[in-house]
Amino acid sequence: MDKEEVISRIIKKKEFSQLPKKDVEKVLEKFERREIDDEDKVKLSRALLKKIFTSFMGRKIMNPKSKDARWFLLRHVSTKERFDYYSELYERLLEDFKEKEISILDLGSGINGVSYCFFPKNKKINYVGVEAVGQLVNVMNFYFKENKINGIAISKSLFELEEIKKIIKKLKKPRIVFLFKVLDSLEMLKGDYSKEFLKEIVPLADKVVVSFATKSFFKREKFKVNRKWFFDFCRENFHILDNFEFPGENYLVLKKRES
Ligand SMILES: C[S@@+](CC[C@H](N)C(=O)[O-])C[C@H]1O[C@@H](n2cnc3c(N)ncnc32)[C@H](O)[C@@H]1O
Repeated sequence: MDKEEVISRIIKKKEFSQLPKKDVEKVLEKFERREIDDEDKVKLSRALLKKIFTSFMGRKIMNPKSKDARWFLLRHVSTKERFDYYSELYERLLEDFKEKEISILDLGSGINGVSYCFFPKNKKINYVGVEAVGQLVNVMNFYFKENKINGIAISKSLFELEEIKKIIKKLKKPRIVFLFKVLDSLEMLKGDYSKEFLKEIVPLADKVVVSFATKSFFKREKFKVNRKWFFDFCRENFHILDNFEFPGENYLVLKKRES
């Protein structure tokens, strides 16, 4: 099989059928040079795609349906964990904005846009979610339309950096960018991509919120990961506005350094 055929075999599986080609290519690149047959490349690529893109949620989320926010949020590992403290989290992230209208760009959003009802009621939030899994994008857009929410979800790979920058630049200021539990996935496919990515994104936003899981996804145990390199990088390059932990998640709030 040539590369294109291997890719079309990989995405024959429904859960990967709506991923941006760029992400599927990046995953296949990991195995392309191995001396294994094409079927094994397909198998290994699918296993890695699952780990990065689709392992966080129950299958039931994958299709648009008329359910309330709670139904969706409890069916995805990340949003379920945040469910009890969303209001407190959003209050803390948005309280220092004096403006009534705020743009939020949620990168690698999963279905986090469904938590729109937890944004402070005294603000007008323009929400844009960017997510690789097309099915989740459809679910969010369906939910926004049904509930007349000022939000939109876009299907795109975060490896398309120039496209992501274009999306940010179009947003009305002030702009806040969320990168909740997504940088580890990017690092799995391209080492040090978080650094390259943040250097380009942070100057375009008023605030960038990065979060990391502090509990392992499958075992639900506290786990220790050495993120010293990441914190050192942030200290050297940005202004750190806030650093706090809620159950299962550590948040770091970054801003461009004033020169
Ligand atoms: C652990 S989930 C977190 C979802 C959401 N940010 C939250 O915390 O509720 C990671 C999400 O990032 C998405 N993702 C991973 N790599 C991506 C990429 N290269 N481009 C776009 N989305 C990506 C995955 O599909 C998945 O929905």
